[in-house]
Amino acid sequence: MRIAVGSDHAGLRLKSVIVEFLKRKGHEVRDLGTHSEESTHYPIFAKEVCLALQNSEVDRGVLICGTGIGMCITANKFEGIRAALCLNEYMARMSRLHNDSNVLCLGDRVVGQELALSILDVWLNTPFEGGRHEVRVKLIRDIEKEACQPDG
Ligand code: RB5
Repeated sequence: MRIAVGSDHAGLRLKSVIVEFLKRKGHEVRDLGTHSEESTHYPIFAKEVCLALQNSEVDRGVLICGTGIGMCITANKFEGIRAALCLNEYMARMSRLHNDSNVLCLGDRVVGQELALSILDVWLNTPFEGGRHEVRVKLIRDIEKEACQPDG
C-alpha cells in the first residue's frame, strides 16, 4: 500500500516508529514531515497528507500529533477524507468496517508505541464492509458536497 505519514513536533517520535514499521511490512511510505523537534503547527502536515490522498498519490494517510485531535479536525475538512482518531484496536477495526476511514489519527501523548502499532496494523488489515455502510458513507459525501456549495 502507498501510505503518506505526517506529524507535528509532538508526534515526531511515534512517526519515526511508524515509518519504520510500515517499511518493514513492505509498504511504500511517504514521510511528509515534520522532520525536526522544533515546535510547529499540525494543520500544515495534515494538509500535506490529505492533498496527497486527494491527488491519488497514496492510498491511505496516517497523522500523528500530541492527542491526534488537531490532526483529525483538520483532515476532516478535506473533501473525500474520512479521518478517524483511534485509541484502541476496536475503534480502528470499526473505522474501517463501518466508516471506510482513509486517514488514521494517533496521539503520541495518549497511546504507547506498542499500542499505536497494534492499532495501525488492525487499521491497515481491515476491509470496508460495504452494504448498509456504503449508503451511510455516500450520505457523508452528499453532505460534503452540499456544505461546499457557495451560498445561492
Ligand atoms: C502540540 O502541543 C499539540 O497541541 C498538538 O500536537 C495536538 O495535540 C493538537 O491537537
